[in-house]
Amino acid sequence: LNYNVGRERSYIVEVLLNGLRRLEYRGYDSAGIAIDSDMRLMMQGKPYDTASPLVFRQEGKIENLVTSVYSEVHKLDVDLEKLFSVHAGIAHTRWATHGVPAPRNSHPQSSGQFDEFLVVHNGIITNYEVLKQTLIRQGFTFESDTDTEVIPKLAKFVFDKACDAEGGVTFSQVVIEVMRQLEGAYALIFKSPHYPNELIACKRGSTLLLGVNELGGETSRHLFHDVKALTANDKPKELFFSSDLCAIVEHTKNYAAIEDNEIVHIKDGSVSILKFDYEKEKPASVQRALSVLEMEVEQIKKGDFDHFMKKEIHEQPDSLTTSMRGRLKDGVVGLGGLKDHMRTIRRSRRIVFIGCGTSYHAALAARPIMEELTDIPVTMEIASDLLDRKALIFKEDTAVFVSQSGETADTLLALEYALDNGALCVGVTNTVGSTLARKTDCGVHINAGCEIGVASTKAYTSQIVVMVMMALAIGSDKMSTLAKREAIIAGLTKLPEKAGDVLKLDGEMKALAESLIDKQSLLMFGRGNNYATALEGALKVKEVALMHSEGMFAGEMKHGPLALVDECLPIIVIATRDDTFSKQQSVIQQLHARKGRLIVMCYKGDASLVCPDGETRVIEVPQVADCLQPIINIIPMQLLAYHLTVLRGYDVDQPRNLAKSVTTQ
Ligand code: G6P
Repeated sequence: LNYNVGRERSYIVEVLLNGLRRLEYRGYDSAGIAIDSDMRLMMQGKPYDTASPLVFRQEGKIENLVTSVYSEVHKLDVDLEKLFSVHAGIAHTRWATHGVPAPRNSHPQSSGQFDEFLVVHNGIITNYEVLKQTLIRQGFTFESDTDTEVIPKLAKFVFDKACDAEGGVTFSQVVIEVMRQLEGAYALIFKSPHYPNELIACKRGSTLLLGVNELGGETSRHLFHDVKALTANDKPKELFFSSDLCAIVEHTKNYAAIEDNEIVHIKDGSVSILKFDYEKEKPASVQRALSVLEMEVEQIKKGDFDHFMKKEIHEQPDSLTTSMRGRLKDGVVGLGGLKDHMRTIRRSRRIVFIGCGTSYHAALAARPIMEELTDIPVTMEIASDLLDRKALIFKEDTAVFVSQSGETADTLLALEYALDNGALCVGVTNTVGSTLARKTDCGVHINAGCEIGVASTKAYTSQIVVMVMMALAIGSDKMSTLAKREAIIAGLTKLPEKAGDVLKLDGEMKALAESLIDKQSLLMFGRGNNYATALEGALKVKEVALMHSEGMFAGEMKHGPLALVDECLPIIVIATRDDTFSKQQSVIQQLHARKGRLIVMCYKGDASLVCPDGETRVIEVPQVADCLQPIINIIPMQLLAYHLTVLRGYDVDQPRNLAKSVTTQ
């Protein structure tokens, strides 16, 4: 929203489309936008004293929408540079859950003819079928296959009923009634020509943020209830709603995180927040101070790199440094976010690591050192599997939730489940202000900086480093492991430099990718600290290079996978030296005996030790402490996946069918 700014509509369109570009990593199969126009709205032959919205929806990437918006707007006989004193626009990028990617399934979803209510939605409405049938009985017709469409139609139904009965209704009354009917998870923004200069946003479950930018001066970190209505003399102002701060950071660093069941009503420049309560008739007014975002706009730009994934891989020496900054002092690990709960963690019966995708792999990489240094059993749970099984979680457990975004629906539902079961819930996330950060009892931010590429790279290595530091902090009361802990801490300080060294393998990994470009499949064998490396390396190849790839536990090779081995199938074996090294040597021999096409990852100088025949391809990596080796070993795999993707001609940053943050179940 833009007040008193005297900006032309094209500026508003640019802000919205750019915001979508920043959010595109979350979903990119279709997009839409609604802006005000200067055409009067005609309904039932009667002109409303308001501007009718222009709505555009497109299938595919944001740039398709951009092209269609500009070509359509130019066709319209309206003054593009016409100034607006107030302008409200909404936009959305989608990752399909209900209904194929198509313009009719894109958001904003509409109440029907004249777009009397328009809604953008992040989340899932679980009772949409029931609502849809009820609305159909009331004469509504549906055009999309989405769950979202029931929302604007319900708003229109509520609006019409209230107008007939009482002659009028406020925008917030309409939205409150809609919220009363909705079940599921959502962040919503409503726009309606019946309420010009107003927007309403509300949320339950999904994240919603409000950014405030008072142009031409510092934004005071005021409480919203103090913000008075805008007058002609007030400072020009821009207000932003978004589900991610990345879309706002270019405009302002002042923001507020909206809580569940809150409704934010913006009207003529004033902001009010209401708390919705099922039990009560009237929602209560809420106060909220603004927070200041610590993020630089450069973080969300590609800089000199061709792709975000490449930039983020190469940022790892810096991101690892930032993850450790201020946390290693005089040989001691200090994690401020955990210190008040350290006694409870040390007394817990077990530690349960919970996450999805790459975050799960990071936890798996940290598991051996967590067990070794804490003497507490550590079990692993994929969030969705934990929910499917309703796995046992006890109040004596410490449940560690790992999530880059802090918004993954499965992880958040598992968190609710663990909280309900009384476990101490610890968050490990990259996203300050995320739902995970807010709902856990305590936690550690990984501080890896904004990660945009859908394939997680720098967040993975920072997650491992943070969990190793957690293990060091939890186990710091044990004399028996002092020497080991000191060695790890010494290793941590050198880790960024070693990450820089391993990045020099870029050219070598490109050459390896060239040799693998036409392969159907790629296997990776790891064990111990590097079992996770095999799983994560294979996931990277699978998700971006769209090549079948499997990470396997090397100890299981002879129990099945060996049958796949022949002269064609490329196999990467991780054989950096640790306690499992001799076992990995025998795996290599068994694969050699079957004429396997091997690529061995080993320490610099170990090539002749791991493959005496001198024919096997090797990836030589620098040596670090055993528990830190997965951080170094994954980097060549990330580079390999990156180059394979580029060489195979696929989209590196936005792989087919995926989204970075899966906020639906
Ligand atoms: C999605 C992404 C993965 C990511 C996973 C967990 O599936 O495509 O790259 O690892 O979600 O995300 P989180 O934000 O919880 O770490």
